[in-house]
Amino acid sequence: MRKHKPYFITFEGAEGAGKSTQIRLAEQYLKQKGYSVLVLREPGGTRIGEAIRKVILNKSRKEMRPETELLLYLACRAQIVKEKISPSLQQGKIVICDRFEDSTLAYQGFGRKIPLASIEVISKLVVRGSLVPDLTFVLDLDPRCGLKRGGRIDRIERESYLFHDRVRKGFLRLAKRERKRCNVIDAAQSIEAVAKKVKEALDRVF
Ligand code: TMP
Repeated sequence: MRKHKPYFITFEGAEGAGKSTQIRLAEQYLKQKGYSVLVLREPGGTRIGEAIRKVILNKSRKEMRPETELLLYLACRAQIVKEKISPSLQQGKIVICDRFEDSTLAYQGFGRKIPLASIEVISKLVVRGSLVPDLTFVLDLDPRCGLKRGGRIDRIERESYLFHDRVRKGFLRLAKRERKRCNVIDAAQSIEAVAKKVKEALDRVF
C-alpha cells in the first residue's frame, strides 16, 4: 500500500448533486493509485450515528426544533470523529467523508438561521478544535435541479426552495472564505466532466 500523510477529504453540496457517484469514483481512483481509502457518510457512519440519522431525517418529526437538529448532527459528528475518522487518519488512510462541518454551517447556519458563531463554538467542542478537512469538493447545483434528481424525500429535502437556496448560497460563501481548501464544481455538468475536475484536484495532491 502506498503511504501518504493523513489526508481528510470531504464532499459537500446540494441534494441530488451527485455526491455519492463522485465519491465512489474518487475512492476507486485513489485505490487504483495504491492508497488505502475509507469512505464514510454524515449523518451516520457509526452505529450510534446511523440510529440518530433515522431520527433526524424522519419526515414525521415535524416538531423538531432547529437547535435540536443542530445538536443531533453534532452528536453524530462527535461519534464518527472519535470512532472512525481520527483513528483511520492515524493509521495513514485517506478518509473521504460524504458531508462534514460545512453542511452544518450551510444547513443549520444559513438554512435554519442559527448564528454561525454559535455553531462554530459547539463544533469546536465536538472535534476538539483540530479536525479540518484538507480538501473539500463543493458540488454546486440549483436546488430546482437537485431536488428533482433525488429519489426518496426526507425531512430536510421537504424544506422549501427558499431554504435550499439559502443553503446553496451558504456553501458558496463558505467556499469563498476558504478558497485554498474548497474546490467548487458545477454539478450541472455531466458525471464525467465533474469526475475529471475531481481527478485533477486529486492529482495535484497524490
Ligand atoms: P445526505 O442526503 O447527503 O445523506 O444528507 C442528509 C441530509 O442531512 C441532507 O439533507 C443534508 C443534511 N445535513 C444537515 O442539515 N446538517 C449536517 O450537518 C449534515 C452532515 C447533513
